[in-house]
Amino acid sequence: MSSFDSSISKVFYGTFIHSVSIKEIEFVSNGLLFVSTHGRIAKIVRNVPNDQFRGALDGVAESKVVRLNEDQFVIPGFVDSHIHAPQYAYCGNGHDIPLLNWLDTLTFPHEAKFKDANYARRIYTKAVARSLRNGTTSACWFATIHLDATKELVKVIEEQGQRAYVGKVNMNQNSPEFLRETIQSSIADTRAFIEYVKAINDVQGLDTKPLVTPIITPRFAISCTSDLLTELGKLVAEYDIPVQSHLCENLNEIEFTKSLFPNSSDYTSVYADHGLLTHRSIMAHCVHMKDEELQLMKAKRAGISHCASSNFNIKSGLANVRKMLDMDLKVGLGTDVAGGFSSSILDAFRAARTCSIARSPDDSLLIPELFYLATVGGARVMELEDTIGNFEVGKEFDAILVNTAAKGSPLDVFEHDTIHTKFEKYLFVGDDRNNEKVFRSIYTTGETMAEITSVNGT
Ligand code: GUN
Ligand code: FE
Repeated sequence: MSSFDSSISKVFYGTFIHSVSIKEIEFVSNGLLFVSTHGRIAKIVRNVPNDQFRGALDGVAESKVVRLNEDQFVIPGFVDSHIHAPQYAYCGNGHDIPLLNWLDTLTFPHEAKFKDANYARRIYTKAVARSLRNGTTSACWFATIHLDATKELVKVIEEQGQRAYVGKVNMNQNSPEFLRETIQSSIADTRAFIEYVKAINDVQGLDTKPLVTPIITPRFAISCTSDLLTELGKLVAEYDIPVQSHLCENLNEIEFTKSLFPNSSDYTSVYADHGLLTHRSIMAHCVHMKDEELQLMKAKRAGISHCASSNFNIKSGLANVRKMLDMDLKVGLGTDVAGGFSSSILDAFRAARTCSIARSPDDSLLIPELFYLATVGGARVMELEDTIGNFEVGKEFDAILVNTAAKGSPLDVFEHDTIHTKFEKYLFVGDDRNNEKVFRSIYTTGETMAEITSVNGT
């Protein structure tokens, strides 16, 4: 056995499709992709003819090879940069109501139920499983204000193996009494949550990035007093952790925010003024941003989660992603369940495309740009661009094995189809039935070496 062989856990032979830049998707055909026992991409060899395949294995045992057929290809796992786990309970309901009314009548009464950690576990188990089945290998989750239920979300994610940011939500004003914290309890519970996740990560002793990262999660400026935001800003600085919130989603929301924070020059500045806009911040929506606000996002190197499906459903508007990209802002896609009705990034991709065509058909986002946002863009927003997003050697192998001819597939392939047309059909017609396997690299120190996990089995 060669020493190279002992460092390799799996080799894929077939087609790999990934973003190499925002303008370019690379199709690697007849490729060999070697995954190390640490779950990392060890090597890629391109254009290996069938009859030279053994020689190109470089001593790796043939039993480790997964051969893809002509209907199959491997793409990077999707990144969902904004999703609400509790709202999965009513995903698909309530889309005729605009944001502030939707929160009061539908969302808040539902989220109140997460006081019960057992109930939370039931909903969260389904929410995470559905997200993974849809090919989301990394996600930024909002939970609720409840500490115990948010810990349940972490447990569920650890059990199912998604890479995630998880936030206990903070709310101490403009919310019903049953969903309102005091500043003291909000900060104490947030601190307890951070320590809880840190303790799990310390026990695991990983020398790669941990699976779950706590994220500071003021729901939005409207539901937090200035004093609470200040305290949350201090936690961000103390723990050096990411922040997520909502920003400039809806015109009524923006007006209300301005009235609550007259000392800040605009909505984006409210977060900046409280130490909550950093290079690790992820702001969802950003539909109605003034130029100064986009410039402030850029200056702070903050990321944007574009949630086009939600912005259609609850009638918030059309975000100008072309302008964000022209400014080289970090942008990823978010499903925003349950403002969005689907936890599939394929649906977010399609909505983002429709949104950009509706805004500006002559300058709309192109397929390579949208695929980039769904993968590398999301990785950049989560500050994981060195770890995931595409198949660069050294990155971790988070991936989807797509089968365009899977049993029950919503798309059909014909003799004239090429790997390019099959990939496009998957992007526009495919769904989780085509996600034959979803892999997330797991590296554990100790007895068991790394594993490559199929979360969707076969
Ligand atoms: N703004 C504040 N809370 C929410 C929420 O739960 N969903 C959406 N879409 N926007 C929000
Ligand atoms: Fe949201």
